[in-house]
Amino acid sequence: MADNTIIQFTDVTKRFDDQTVLDQVSFEIERGKFYTLLGPSGCGKTTVLRLIAGFTEATEGDILFNGKRINDVPANKRQVNTVFQDYALFPHLNVFENIAFGLRIKKMKEAEIKTRVLDALKFVNLSGYESREITEMSGGQRQRVAIARAIVNEPEVILLDEPLSALDLKLRTEMQYELRDLQRRLGITFIFVTHDQEEALAMSDEIFVLNHGLIQQSGTPTDIYDEPINRFVADFIGESNIIPGRMLSDYRVSFAENEFDCVDRGLELNEPVEIVIRPEDLEITGVAQGKLRVTVDSQLFRGVHYEIACMDEVGNEWLVHSTKKATVGEQIGLTFDPEAIHVMRLNETEEEFDKRLESYDGVL
Ligand SMILES: Nc1ncnc2c1ncn2[C@@H]1O[C@H](COP(=O)(O)OP(=O)(O)OP(=O)(O)O)[C@@H](O)[C@H]1O
Ligand SMILES: [Mg+2]
Repeated sequence: MADNTIIQFTDVTKRFDDQTVLDQVSFEIERGKFYTLLGPSGCGKTTVLRLIAGFTEATEGDILFNGKRINDVPANKRQVNTVFQDYALFPHLNVFENIAFGLRIKKMKEAEIKTRVLDALKFVNLSGYESREITEMSGGQRQRVAIARAIVNEPEVILLDEPLSALDLKLRTEMQYELRDLQRRLGITFIFVTHDQEEALAMSDEIFVLNHGLIQQSGTPTDIYDEPINRFVADFIGESNIIPGRMLSDYRVSFAENEFDCVDRGLELNEPVEIVIRPEDLEITGVAQGKLRVTVDSQLFRGVHYEIACMDEVGNEWLVHSTKKATVGEQIGLTFDPEAIHVMRLNETEEEFDKRLESYDGVL
């Protein structure tokens, strides 16, 4: 365990009746970073937060906080606070009393409560709003009250369960910047849940992509975007071309009935694989200069780039993002660097991927 690890899950399984929601999940959370749990509806994101907060119990496995097992520590004794999707503010209390609520339960002195609440309000840019009723606050302001209520307890970790999903797109983008800035200023660990991949890429230091009870991949936004480990991640994060292929040797792969240099190694000879090329990594050339020859099916202008859908000679569809315009019906060439090709083993998990690269020392 790294020195700055604050939370550690070791082989944590969570079952409801006979449904396994988390299947021996292990990960570490470091102090002071912004983490995002990303995955489709029902994949277990809220369950992970509830396990950390102590609102539900693990069926198997250990949950450590600052190196101590906390499976049996009650929720109110844990150094975490949660910001819920619907904010769960008390409509009959004003802004001040909503934020002060937890401190009153702890029987803190009135003078200290006042200092802390006003400090928290200042932090979320709501100074002067303390006597407002919750019903008089906008969606974005309520959001900030909910965050102030979490930070007033000075927790070591703040858990945020889709806190922006109720906001309209413009406000949501503003709050993304605000939350990220707040996390930096506070310097405490945020664990943020979303099913929005763009939000995850924009905000996080580290992302855990969850699906089918497993962490499919963990890493920085660029790791996950540039090197998706399997089809699920490639598909879920951003737009991708995912094409069937076959490994010919280390650093050599075939797809679309052609052979190409690539940067991947450690797979079996002739192993069927899937290759990923991001639309922005494809460049339009003349037919003769292209590594692939395709016919343009459709074209849309997206403000900054054209989104061009093409088909190659064996029927694979290719999506291209280019500042160059093409003509529908025309044949064009496509070129790309070896680094733009990402080779994925079929259905490989992160654990299997790591093991494969660790144990690999030869040449195919
Ligand atoms: N108390 C419960 N009893 C039974 N099943 C539950 C319970 N809580 C969650 N589940 C099930 O566990 C699975 C994961 O739920 P969870 O709420 O963690 O998903 P999620 O990733 O947060 O989804 P969403 O994006 O829709 O919020 C779902 O299939 C859900 O039905
Ligand atoms: Mg949820």
